[in-house]
Amino acid sequence: MLGTGENCRDLDKLLDAYEQDPTSVYLYTGRGPSSEALHMGHLIPFMFTKWLQDAFQVPLVIQLTDDEKYLWRGLSMEEASRLARENAKDILALGFDPKLTFVFKDTDYMGGNFYKNCVRFARNVTFSHARNTFGFTNDSNIGQIGFPPVQAAPCFPDSFPHLFGNDKRGFRCLIPCAIDQDPYFRLTRDVCPKMKAHKPSLIESTFFPGLKGESSKMSASDENNAVYVTDSPKAIKKKVNKYAFSGGMDSAEEQRKHGADLSRDIPWKWLNFMLDDDDELERIGELYASGQMLSGEVKSRLVEVLQAIVGNHQARKAELTEEEVDHFFSTQPRSFPYTNSA
Ligand code: TRP
Repeated sequence: MLGTGENCRDLDKLLDAYEQDPTSVYLYTGRGPSSEALHMGHLIPFMFTKWLQDAFQVPLVIQLTDDEKYLWRGLSMEEASRLARENAKDILALGFDPKLTFVFKDTDYMGGNFYKNCVRFARNVTFSHARNTFGFTNDSNIGQIGFPPVQAAPCFPDSFPHLFGNDKRGFRCLIPCAIDQDPYFRLTRDVCPKMKAHKPSLIESTFFPGLKGESSKMSASDENNAVYVTDSPKAIKKKVNKYAFSGGMDSAEEQRKHGADLSRDIPWKWLNFMLDDDDELERIGELYASGQMLSGEVKSRLVEVLQAIVGNHQARKAELTEEEVDHFFSTQPRSFPYTNSA
């Protein structure tokens, strides 16, 4: 998973802490709810987060920044809030552990310890520091300028007293996220020493390209450039076959002679993110680059992998009940083995 190269910050520190005490770390990730259905680019960091939770068996907090999307995207407050709940279902359909997972919407959860940490954080960031990090201008609304503490607050465990108690600054936080979130956490890591808190560790996944090519971004305005979790098997096949940018040669004959250009081939790149079997991946890479495998075959393998991921996802989402979703949002203490100890 995520085999195309990740960027890490202080991962070794977190792993050392985990080795010493497996109950001393937690995971934090999030989503800005700006669209109805998630696409693969949205889902991949969450699939990776799920993998980490299974491997480490540690608490996870998932922040839904409906406030952020209200401030940046011109959605109404109600729409941002509704999308947050809808997106949460898609995220939870991946199978996060209800005993270890807390999901929250900023506009509901803001207050108490969480808000105190926002304010503590805010006092340590000057406007010029925030502007240098995010590129704010005189035309940015002041809600945007004031938002970064909200995304930083979950890095401090005492923002979640129902999970970690009030005085657990010893917990270390690991954030799996897409690379575009780095400015938030660079700023957070700058401020942590001033708050006498551990810096969060990060695993950042590299940019996940749109179907149409490395430089294309998956966006709501072009639905053929992405595969959505709501797509039918037929739609997936059609999108991949018709739109996926190929690094193969113009004819089968040339392809056999020269091999494919993997550095430009989207089906290959997508398989790198999605194919679990590393040996198979390596085999495909060798055969494809040397001309023994043709673009059509690589595409059809990708179609199978996507159809399985999306099909499983749809089945699990259909089974998820509103009560189950409510449980993830509730501020009842979770039953971590160590919640009330230490
Ligand atoms: N800002 C992110 C977005 O627009 C949402 C987010 C909040 C997030 N906290 C996070 C993403 C932590 C990754 C990790 O999608």
